[in-house]
Amino acid sequence: MSTLLVKGGTVVSSTGRTVADVLVDGEQVVAVLAPGSDIAASVTADKVVDATGKYVIPGGIDAHTHMQLPFGGTEASDTFETGTIAAAWGGTTSIIDFAVQKYGERVEDGLSAWHEKARGNCAVDYGFHQIIGGVDEQSLKAMETLIDEGITSYKMFMAYPGVFYATDDQILRAMQKARELGLMTMMHAENGPAIDVLAEQLYNAGKTTPYFHGIARAWQMEEEATHRAIMLANLTEAPLYVVHVSAKQAVEQLATARDKGQNVFGETCPQYLYLSLEEQLGATGDPTWGEFEGAKWVCSTPLRSRAEGHQDAMWQALRTNDLQMVSTDHCPFCMKDQKELGRGDFRAIPNGIGSIEHRMDLLYQGVVTGEITLERWVELTSTTPARMFGLYGRKGVIQPGADADIVVYDPKGHTSIGVDKTHHMNMDHSAWEGYEIDGHVDVVISRGSVLVSDGEFHGRAGHGQYLKRGLTQYLT
Ligand code: URP
Ligand code: ZN
Ligand code: ZN
Repeated sequence: MSTLLVKGGTVVSSTGRTVADVLVDGEQVVAVLAPGSDIAASVTADKVVDATGKYVIPGGIDAHTHMQLPFGGTEASDTFETGTIAAAWGGTTSIIDFAVQKYGERVEDGLSAWHEKARGNCAVDYGFHQIIGGVDEQSLKAMETLIDEGITSYKMFMAYPGVFYATDDQILRAMQKARELGLMTMMHAENGPAIDVLAEQLYNAGKTTPYFHGIARAWQMEEEATHRAIMLANLTEAPLYVVHVSAKQAVEQLATARDKGQNVFGETCPQYLYLSLEEQLGATGDPTWGEFEGAKWVCSTPLRSRAEGHQDAMWQALRTNDLQMVSTDHCPFCMKDQKELGRGDFRAIPNGIGSIEHRMDLLYQGVVTGEITLERWVELTSTTPARMFGLYGRKGVIQPGADADIVVYDPKGHTSIGVDKTHHMNMDHSAWEGYEIDGHVDVVISRGSVLVSDGEFHGRAGHGQYLKRGLTQYLT
């Protein structure tokens, strides 16, 4: 087994920072050494990474991705291979993707199809949540086997009638089962049936462009569903994790429940921190796409109005821990042949944005602007995802015994985002085109292997291993 020394950097954890040398033996961290100590001076290693002047952080964990998801009449454009290579470039060394049980399908079959897609194809480590797309006796029974499979969280949808939608009685039953088993319930909290009525009315009134996706999916739809999910979780005493929160009113619902001691949690995504209904979905004038350009940013929950202050509320919630994590909800679709399906009818635009490559950089801008601290950056992108989803100790921290998933981040570096510049995702556009980022992912190490250094990719599809996860380590 070879040894690796990450030397002289500032090691940042969720609770502090210190200049230290990190010694890796094989796939694991074996020591964090004070520089200048006799022991540090005596250490030799097969390979040395000079991290002087840079941050040394635990590898990012993106706990919400959708590789190859069949959705909206097409399939998410990143494979497990392309998506995890892009993840590695961006300093994310673990993902948790969503295995899908479609309505009418056995959970076991949906899960094995996901293993089939991912096995041998991932450049970074990967785990699964389970989407339960059809809650019935059979799928409730199948939930009992998930923990043995290393899947300790599952997702239901209050949106997308006819696709993944679950009714309140189904949600209640699933939460009761989850409580019994210790599973984390993840919820897409939007009132799907009501949204579909609004969307149809808008379409019939000739309001067909991407902007109206955001109008139909009004914040009231998110607030109401978030409240209902919280109440059902309260009744069943099931822990609840609300995905892709974008409305400030939904955050208020989470905060109120948390103040009362309920185990409810929430994530937001980079798009809800930086992008907006007015600026993106309302975009016009692009010579290629015209007012259809907004399709690039069609996702659900939708981008929200900046005038209403949703973006500022997301940053505040990240500071106050009313929201605990930032994931991407990476669900990329190309404009050509994919987003284009909804030209003339916003309801047919496949929902999703690709950001897996940029999550660490984008959130680091919050450190640069003073929205969050350096330590909180690490907590939101790595340590809490590990704790929330049963990976902590092995992932989410740099300490002896942990997997050597390490990112050397250069705060003096610079990153230009664009489809022709830094982009390795399988997309014909970037939702972040033209973003100029302070900071740069310099070196990425996954289980002791250097995946990225000197602007080159040294990893391979198949390096990534399946992560059997334990129960959440985040409950109060
Ligand atoms: O627009 C989104 N979020 N697409 C992915 C599916 C989901 O709801 O997470
Ligand atoms: Zn969702
Ligand atoms: Zn999603």
